[in-house]
Formats: sequence, structure tokens, C-alpha cells
Amino acid sequence: MNEPESLVFEVENPILAHVLTDLPNFETAFESYKWPIGQNSVSALLFALKIRDKTTFSHVLRCGTYAHLLGQQENKELIGEWTLLALLHDLGKMGIPDEILRDTGELPLRAFEQVKQHASFGQELVRRAGLSDELSMCIRSHHERLDGYGYPDGISGDKIPEASRMILVIDTFDALTSNRPYRSGLSYVDAFEEMRKSMGSQLDKRFTKVFITILSEHIDLAEKRLGLDTLPRIA
Ligand SMILES: [Fe+2]
Repeated sequence: MNEPESLVFEVENPILAHVLTDLPNFETAFESYKWPIGQNSVSALLFALKIRDKTTFSHVLRCGTYAHLLGQQENKELIGEWTLLALLHDLGKMGIPDEILRDTGELPLRAFEQVKQHASFGQELVRRAGLSDELSMCIRSHHERLDGYGYPDGISGDKIPEASRMILVIDTFDALTSNRPYRSGLSYVDAFEEMRKSMGSQLDKRFTKVFITILSEHIDLAEKRLGLDTLPRIA
């Protein structure tokens, strides 16, 4: 990648930061992925996001790492594709006005309608960058919920592409554990609990269970390494 410094993670939680930097992630594998669009195009798209909105940029880097992790466990052949989609899933946020993007609390309904547009903006952006219609659709559908109450199309269950269901799981975890101007990020214990409650209605059961299991293993290892496993579990 042309911008190695851009891969610094911005997470407040020290254990999670440790886990993220320690995971075998897309940074080390960046050059080896066989992507349908070239590494330079991906780098350019991510750089555009970085200069437009650093918060979303950091978010997609973390999602890329989580997707790589989930791919290692679930389907090694899909690691590259899932990582790519996780890295590009929120590119459409570049089309959202600043005052809405800098989300400082409850958004009025009209503003939320604008936020929703990022799914179709993202689909169009990656399609024009050379991604297939099928992969572009995965970006469009990353906010669809299993019960059909998601957006932009309100599709449900198996009609939602598998990769979109995967992205929603890691996206939800990162959103819950990230600080917002109006609230602190949840501990990973509380985030896992929230995600378990959403299994089957919003989140894919299998991906959620696998994600929680595998990330918990890495968190336990990090705690042991940092000598925190003998203390009461910290947030
Ligand atoms: Fe999104």
C-alpha cells in the first residue's frame, strides 16, 4: 500500500487496540490479495476516504481486519474478497454532507434518509471502479437486516448477499465499540451481548457466533500477554 501510516488504528479500548494491531491482517497481506480491481485503485479509493473523513477511514480499516479474521475461520478462499468489501463498504459516506457525517447525536429523520444514500453511492462508486455487479451489490446491501427492516431495499434472509451479512456483523461490532461525540464505545463484553440479542432479527446467526468466538480467543490471548487475565475483566 502506498500509505503505510494510514493503517494506524484509532481505538480507545487498549485490549482491542492490542488485538487489532496483533491480528494477521490485510496490511501484511495487502500485496498478495488477488482482487478484481488493482491494489493501486483500492489504495486510491481509501486515500480519498481518508482525506474526506478520517473517522470512517479508520472504521473501514478495522472492518478490513475483522473481515480477514472471519474469512480465515469461515472460508479461506473468500478472505481476499471479504477483506476488499469490508474496506470499501462505506466509501459512499463521501457523498454525505459534513454536518450529517459528523453525527453528533440523534439525527432528524430527513438527515437519516440522506445517510441511507451512502449504500447506493458506495455501490455506484465501486461499480465504476471496476467491481462486478454482484460484488457492487454486496456493498449496496450492507445495511439490510435479516428481518427485512434494513435499507436501502428492505430485502430479508437469504436474499441478502452472504458478504453483506458478514459486513453487517463486523460493522455492528465496530460501531458499538467505537466512541461517538455523544457516547463512549461499549466494552467488548457488552458489545457481544448486544450482538447476541440481535442475532436472527438483524444479524446473521452463524457469522455472529463465529465472530464472537474467534475474537474472544484473541482477546483472551491479548489479556494473558498483557498480564490482565488475573484482574477482574476490564472493559
Ligand atoms: Fe455503512
